[in-house]
Amino acid sequence: MPKPITQTPTTDPTPTSTAAPTFPPSFLWGAATSAYQIEGAVREDGRTPSIWDTFSHTPGRTAGGDTGDMAVDHYHRYRDDVALMKDLDLGTYRFSVSWPRVQPTGRGPAVQRGLDFYRRLTDELLAQGIKPALTLYHWDLPQELEDAGGWPARDTAYRFAEYAGMVGEALGDRVDLWITLNEPWCSAFLGYGSGVHAPGRTEPAATLRAAHHLNLAHGLATQALRQTLPPRAEVAVSLNSSTVRPLSPDSPADNDARRRIDNLANGVFHGPMLHGEYPADLITDTAGITDWSFIHATDLAAIHQPLDALGLNYYTPSLVSSAPSAPTTRSDGHGASDHSPWPGADDVAFHQSPGERTEMGWTIDPTGLHDLIMRYTREAPGLPLYITENGAAYDDKPDPEGRVHDPERIAYLHGHLSAVHRAIKDGADVRGYYLWSLMDNFEWAYGYEKRFGAVYVDYATQKRTPKSSAHWYAQASRTNQLPPAN
Ligand code: FCB
Repeated sequence: MPKPITQTPTTDPTPTSTAAPTFPPSFLWGAATSAYQIEGAVREDGRTPSIWDTFSHTPGRTAGGDTGDMAVDHYHRYRDDVALMKDLDLGTYRFSVSWPRVQPTGRGPAVQRGLDFYRRLTDELLAQGIKPALTLYHWDLPQELEDAGGWPARDTAYRFAEYAGMVGEALGDRVDLWITLNEPWCSAFLGYGSGVHAPGRTEPAATLRAAHHLNLAHGLATQALRQTLPPRAEVAVSLNSSTVRPLSPDSPADNDARRRIDNLANGVFHGPMLHGEYPADLITDTAGITDWSFIHATDLAAIHQPLDALGLNYYTPSLVSSAPSAPTTRSDGHGASDHSPWPGADDVAFHQSPGERTEMGWTIDPTGLHDLIMRYTREAPGLPLYITENGAAYDDKPDPEGRVHDPERIAYLHGHLSAVHRAIKDGADVRGYYLWSLMDNFEWAYGYEKRFGAVYVDYATQKRTPKSSAHWYAQASRTNQLPPAN
């Protein structure tokens, strides 16, 4: 058994009452996945390769050379997967649309066979009473668009807006929650900075250009969606906003390191998206890398679109200090690289936060989630929040009877959902929570090594087995209350 979560120094304070935390009646309980991580069928029905197909097929890029060619075969098994969601009493399901499946090569007309898959999936969800939440971009850029420059190229933002409009037109009648981008930080800083994600480039200036064009893509796509979606539809973005903490809270140098990383992790996206401007000190801190002349006069207005909600993805906080020379090889939790994902911050060291860790090596700290929710409650007053991802990887294994018992994941979920509950009590408008992930899947550079699912997948047979956390979560969803963690 893991140590009860309330005994570690960094966990959420124990509620004084013994009553089970109860959520608002309309609170949505969901699970999330993404296209490349689950669908497989990479060469079917006209789909063309994305940067993740190319990257995962490049030797040395993913653990064991794993690819998403088959993933968990969701493209063919979606009906059974939706039935499983129903069995688990999910109220909502967040999935992503594969861009190269609906607009092969990233240009030209939409392909009906690709769109039909998402029509069938959403019909199935609606038939089971499960609310679909659609992410337009979860990292699978069509390879042709990368060949034309990728996210550092301005045109990619316009291509994305066109694609968003096509999907909006096709599915706007049945999807009410739309997320433009998933974690643009990972796309820009891991894809073009440290290179541990596709397309695997390591160019500090291109990283910041990519970040700007992802912001522009979000703004233009939001405008395109507004033209096709019915007024009831909500448009949001999912940010992996980090809770960044200084190693020595009294050290001015560590606080300055915290400020700089916070700008590169958070301000670079929420600045323009929520406030219509980049943090001024982000521009000056990175002046040695770029002059930011890629920002055109009307861009900030285009990016700063009214949103209906903000999605927050949270796993673990960051702990930083000032360091004259930070280590040259670093693991940022997504993979090791000799290149920093943080342009202009080579003199910042990252530390392991104290406390227990998940199988990813990520410290379990629900206070970071509470802090994050309260931060955005202050930064964007009145903007409803969804936790669009939260969860943990563990080394799950079936017992001799084939059952998968994962008490550590139950403790993780209990701790973080308690933090959400506390934030709601503190005045935050959190409308729902999406557990990452519905089922075990392709965990990017880690391949199939890391299991995040509430449902266990036997990759040899594709058999799905709900873990004990899935049953625990189903009970929470059914009762709108957190069952005890043990
Ligand atoms: C997030 C990604 C998601 C998954 C989890 C563990 O950064 O959005 O696809 O990999 O991490």
